[in-house]
Amino acid sequence: MKLDLELLCGAGGAEVRGLDLSKPLAPETLTALRRALADHCVLLFRDQKLEPDSQKAFARQFGPLAETPFIKPLEGHPEMMRVVREPDEKKKLNFGGRWHSDLTFQVEPVLGTVLYSRESPAVGGDTLWTNQMLAFDALSPGMQRMLESLTVMHSAKRSYGPQGTYADDDLKGMRINASELALKETPHPCVRTHPENGRKILFINWVYAIRFQDMTEEESTPLLEFLNRHSQRPEFQIRFRWTKGALAFWDNRSTQHLAVNDYAGYRRVMDRVTIAGDKPFFTPA
Ligand code: OGA
Ligand code: MN
Repeated sequence: MKLDLELLCGAGGAEVRGLDLSKPLAPETLTALRRALADHCVLLFRDQKLEPDSQKAFARQFGPLAETPFIKPLEGHPEMMRVVREPDEKKKLNFGGRWHSDLTFQVEPVLGTVLYSRESPAVGGDTLWTNQMLAFDALSPGMQRMLESLTVMHSAKRSYGPQGTYADDDLKGMRINASELALKETPHPCVRTHPENGRKILFINWVYAIRFQDMTEEESTPLLEFLNRHSQRPEFQIRFRWTKGALAFWDNRSTQHLAVNDYAGYRRVMDRVTIAGDKPFFTPA
């Protein structure tokens, strides 16, 4: 099965043409999409006509859906949330506005996220991703060896803890419940193996990867800052301009992402579901 693909950036991103995602896909199409997702990190589909039920049905073909803690789901759809920004929102930070991967504070972070545009700004509001396989490959052998021996503690505290960014929730239209539960820390290997293509992934992100195991945050921050800056190099980035009806399906195991906050005055409405993933592991090559 050959997909009709257009590659978007050197780092990845592939626009897939000719598929209607509101209908069930053939098993060979799903296999090809899974493979393309692992290789290109982000799959993009334009001009789709989806409702919450059909978006969930599309995502379920890749695995069971996962629920998002701390954020109120869409009414009647516990596995879906609506990412909304109103034209008059003054808050400096938009939802998803700092580099992160979704839900890496969980023991089994999600495999992927499916984001569908219901309403897009005329200009601005793009999403950026980084390819963390390329980011790993570009490090020196000495740094790679050292990182392969390290474990990183992930936590939601900087976002959803009592002192977190969203604790004084004034993102209109989204209900965020900051909580003590966000203080919990979960260990993951600093370098994880992609379960489908075997590539090595630099598995850290700016928001949830807070320190190395058995080290303080203060000790860990200089190296984590370097690794995050390194990950954000332009040649590892993928960028997508949204149009109403576009859908992005990203591999959350091998990417970080960020919602660009450059569209004051416009409304932006996205529906999001996530697909359950496995526990990150590292197998030395
Ligand atoms: C998300 C997210 C990015 C965006 O929904 O997880 O980070 O561009 N969104 O809205
Ligand atoms: Mn996100």
